[in-house]
Amino acid sequence: MSTKLLKNPGQIVTPRGSSARFGEEMGKLTVLTDKDVLLEDGLIAEIGDRGEFDGSIGSESQVVDAGGKPVLPGFIDPHTHFVFAGYRADEFNMRLRGASYEEIARKGGGIVSSVSPTREATLEELKEISRERLRSVVRHGVTTIEGKTGYGLNVEAELKQLQTMTELDKEVPVDVAPTFLGAHVVPDEFKEGREKYVELMLDEGIPAAAEKGAEFCDVFCDQGAFTLEESRRILNAGKDAGLTPKIHADEIKATGAAGLAAEVGAISADHLLKSSDEDLKALREDEIVAVLLPITAFSLKEEYARGRWMIDNGLAVSIATDLNPGSCHSESIPLLFSLATLYMELTIEESITALTLNAAAAIDRADEVGTVETGKKGDFVILDAPDYEHLSYHIGVNLVEKVVKRGEVIWERRDPEF
Ligand code: NIG
Ligand code: FE
Repeated sequence: MSTKLLKNPGQIVTPRGSSARFGEEMGKLTVLTDKDVLLEDGLIAEIGDRGEFDGSIGSESQVVDAGGKPVLPGFIDPHTHFVFAGYRADEFNMRLRGASYEEIARKGGGIVSSVSPTREATLEELKEISRERLRSVVRHGVTTIEGKTGYGLNVEAELKQLQTMTELDKEVPVDVAPTFLGAHVVPDEFKEGREKYVELMLDEGIPAAAEKGAEFCDVFCDQGAFTLEESRRILNAGKDAGLTPKIHADEIKATGAAGLAAEVGAISADHLLKSSDEDLKALREDEIVAVLLPITAFSLKEEYARGRWMIDNGLAVSIATDLNPGSCHSESIPLLFSLATLYMELTIEESITALTLNAAAAIDRADEVGTVETGKKGDFVILDAPDYEHLSYHIGVNLVEKVVKRGEVIWERRDPEF
């Protein structure tokens, strides 16, 4: 058995529990002082008084020193598209000159522009690019990340994206939760017969993805992507194959996609910029986590999802970066905190729950990560700040000093020597 000690946290700041927190419960964090954390085999064995476990430790190498700084659960990014090749800086610059995301997509750009480079990359190339991206993700304090396919858009390339994630999950310390998003958009070669593409996903894509380790099945249910009826078929076929439904809902238009999330029993409904009050209340009824992506709204200059309203109406809200090559090329957790607090009007306490326990619930991992409690993985972020409130107050600055995964320091900031 390997024993580790997280020593000397200035404060331990955490939500509690093994399921999503709803409504006002989101704002209730526990703040512990004068405690140390004992870890056995990477899991939290006990939280005790400062110094209590000193006798359990044989050597200094078993100690992670928090240096009197705030300690939080490792952050969880529950909605990303981090596996892709090629960039779309040209499209971003077209948007700076006034073109809209939808106009660019109508002219043949958008999601489909990421398809050729992703299809052309070998598995090894895709893994190397994605591994490099995960290094940056970790520097922001993220210890668990969800990732989607959706830039292959044929069975072979979708499975290559999936394999990138299942292999990286084993090779890097970050946990990767893989989602099949074969229904991201209809690829160019099926533009004249979209029904055939839906059938390809139903008959081949979904069963193969389930067999090769996908956990979730997602669909971009929106204007310009998949209709409500197509999305219903895709998510139900995913369920039949053992994949838990997720949905990109009501980002561009209110199509009733959030209502579909409730109908199929999705684990999360994501984006929700344009969702109706009624559909959002259905998410509350069915205990579906609302995953909000404020950096995407910022990047597209759209109105933010109504985070404050959702929490006031009892929903469980999570936040995520949506890191992708098009609508939101950002893995910035500091920006995520700034936008969630200032523009979606979450408190910093609610934002922390949104990026830890509720994010874990959105990817079905709330029993193993998302809080600092006995039995959970020893995943922590140590901040270089006097207290956790600086996550919102110190605007846009990465405060992460150390990242700990299962008791091991996997990243540590180095300061310049002056
Ligand atoms: O979540 N909305 C659909 N999919 C992504 C965008 C992907 C892209 O632009 O490449 C999103 O924003
Ligand atoms: Fe997305």
